[in-house]
Amino acid sequence: MMAPPSPHFQYEGGELTIDGYSVRAIAEEYGTPLYIYSAASIRKAYEAIDRALSFTPHLIAYAVKANGNLAILKLLAELGSGADIVSGGELARALRAGFSPDKIVYSGVGKTARELREAIETGIRAIHVESAFELDLIESIADSIGTKARIAFRVNPNVDPQTHPYISTGLHSSKFGIPIDEVESLLPRTLKSSSLDLVGLTMHIGSQLGSPAPLAEASELLGRFALKCMERGAQFESLDIGGGWPLAYGNESDPYPPPSEFGRAIRRGLEASGILKHDLLILTEPGRSLVGDAGLLITEVLGLKASATKQFVIADASMTELIRPALYDAYHAVMPVCEPRDRETIIADLVGPVCESGDFLARNRAMPRPKPGELLAIRGAGAYAREMASTYNARVLAPEVLIDGDKARLVRKRPTYDSLFENEVF
Ligand code: LLP
Repeated sequence: MMAPPSPHFQYEGGELTIDGYSVRAIAEEYGTPLYIYSAASIRKAYEAIDRALSFTPHLIAYAVKANGNLAILKLLAELGSGADIVSGGELARALRAGFSPDKIVYSGVGKTARELREAIETGIRAIHVESAFELDLIESIADSIGTKARIAFRVNPNVDPQTHPYISTGLHSSKFGIPIDEVESLLPRTLKSSSLDLVGLTMHIGSQLGSPAPLAEASELLGRFALKCMERGAQFESLDIGGGWPLAYGNESDPYPPPSEFGRAIRRGLEASGILKHDLLILTEPGRSLVGDAGLLITEVLGLKASATKQFVIADASMTELIRPALYDAYHAVMPVCEPRDRETIIADLVGPVCESGDFLARNRAMPRPKPGELLAIRGAGAYAREMASTYNARVLAPEVLIDGDKARLVRKRPTYDSLFENEVF
């Protein structure tokens, strides 16, 4: 079983610990399935990206969609992070957690009038405009409030990030952003508008970049285009180069380059464009690389069964707690909580109780034969796990515990059955 090495998840005295805490003891207290997060891991990941961008004034705008738990948001806000949001709900979360509005940027291709109004009234750093119709809508809302909306055009640079097609966002075949020539044609009316304040440009080419080269190329392109806009009268404060900072899940044949290399590539691209001397604030929007490896999903093995062709390990966690394997065939490393010693290795599917054949957490995986009642820890569950969870099959959402220094805190409770139908009328 391949698991990325981590100083935060270690076997001590034959048992898996997270920053020195016994995973078994926490699971006994709160039950399974259960998410456990390491604050130390998040801080370290944040500092690595912060260092990588130290060559320029910068703002890390954490992509709230990766994990919007308030305790995690608060931790990041306290580190100085900003927030990249994609809905009114995420705006409410970010504000509740303490992000200052001038550190919040708002991406997404389909913002509603209500959401835009909330963002304009809050006075966030920038709404990322993703279409001409959205520009019209923002302008008319700002006009009706009698204010100027701060915006940045999301440019679609048409650069191939060479990643999974589902997480590729900067090609003309994707729904995100506006092609450069269209942004250019929207520029004169935007600059003339008394309700729009164009503060910068933004882009996002995709997640999980295996190499920083496409990011360098796209940064150069964005930098050059920014200069062109500035020559035409735009007064830019910032440039958002998106993200793509990768997270190692453990099955990679080639290791991902470290954040420092991504930082160097961004610097190279921006330097080549000539924009760096203008001292703009450079934004980036990492999500999973900050929180992904900080999280474990803990599950209890309910039993084993075999068919003529397959061995199944049935656990109490499922696609409702971690949908990434079912949705993207994503790999997540699985570590037994009790250190496996001299155990037979089996090849099995780790599956959950949900009534779907696609409900698997690991497929054809070599693993030490688990015992019923034993706990397993699924790695890489800090990002897009709880956040994409559902109550399908009337399953209640799993609770979350945050380990921070000498504290292990329940930061979201397990809901009751009653909560499943509290908003229903019959
Ligand atoms: N900024 C923008 C504009 C994005 O679209 C995304 C991801 C991010 C930042 C953060 O990307 P990250 O650093 O986390 O890779 N549910 C999928 C991921 C969808 C990501 C969509 N956008 C998954 O579980 O892999």
